[in-house]
Amino acid sequence: MKTVAVVGAGVIGLSWARLFVEHGLTVRITDPRADLAEVVPDGVQIASTVAEAVRDADFVQENGPENLEFKKTLFAELVREAPQHALLLSSSSAIPSTAFTEGIDGSRVLIGHPFNPPHVIPLVEVVPGQQTSEESVTRAVEFYRSLGRTPVVERKEIPGFVGNRLQAALSREAAYLVEQGVVTPADLDAVVTNSLGLRWATVGPFLGAHLGGGPGGYRHLATHIGKSMRGLELGTPSQDPERLIEAVEDAYGSSTYSALAETRDRKQLAVLTALEEN
Ligand SMILES: NC(=O)c1ccc[n+]([C@@H]2O[C@H](COP(=O)([O-])OP(=O)(O)OC[C@H]3O[C@@H](n4cnc5c(N)ncnc54)[C@H](O)[C@@H]3O)[C@@H](O)[C@H]2O)c1
Repeated sequence: MKTVAVVGAGVIGLSWARLFVEHGLTVRITDPRADLAEVVPDGVQIASTVAEAVRDADFVQENGPENLEFKKTLFAELVREAPQHALLLSSSSAIPSTAFTEGIDGSRVLIGHPFNPPHVIPLVEVVPGQQTSEESVTRAVEFYRSLGRTPVVERKEIPGFVGNRLQAALSREAAYLVEQGVVTPADLDAVVTNSLGLRWATVGPFLGAHLGGGPGGYRHLATHIGKSMRGLELGTPSQDPERLIEAVEDAYGSSTYSALAETRDRKQLAVLTALEEN
């Protein structure tokens, strides 16, 4: 893999482009946005059309709008325009690739779903569709690994895949707790960063629970504290997010996006370095 095409240069596409170029790959990016030249990372080439971006690509990472019709049209074009050997990956957060490869050759199309920002966060969920070949899965996994990412292959398509389904469960209760006036958005964030976030950077929910049970392990936890946890009735937030949007803007709106993003990246990189050293 030497040449990568990045289609869509929003939040995710720009971050992928940065990761690819930092690993010495030739990167061509395309996006109709008027300010594209001002936002592309140094060393990334701009292509004026999708066809031009993918013409000699070995790997395509798609990051356009999260919209089924958009992805159907775009992937039909990618299958037509990219070289036969090129892998075609979508960053989609929730749409399985089987849904947008109906009627086209989907053997080299699959999901490569990152967590924002992909130049920092290691996970890539690799999700084959019904037509995806095993060879495409293996090549995608090898490619992401060569970039220092941690690909996890998921063997059954489900909307939202694994990471976003887990995130949605937590986000739903977080929204409910803020709407009910139990905590402010900043206090809820403090609860997470000072407990679950720290824990989950080192042990996942299952190993965490196994340790939470002491020497009796997961069996002890499941049959002891687990009983009261299973009995908790979780809330359902309102369908109108407006009050929540205002509360989050009150908490963080006075800082710029770039200042908040820089602090996040610096702290997350420090955590990754600490994990590598331990
Ligand atoms: N934001 C996240 O946290 C996140 C995380 C993981 C995956 N994703 C997924 O990544 C994809 C992109 O999300 P985003 O948050 O970067 O969105 P975004 O709105 O920031 O960027 C989308 C970009 O696609 C561009 N675009 C529109 N039509 C295009 C075309 N024909 N050709 C090329 N580019 C075109 C837009 O101009 C825009 O810059 C989505 O599928 C999303 O689900 C997002």
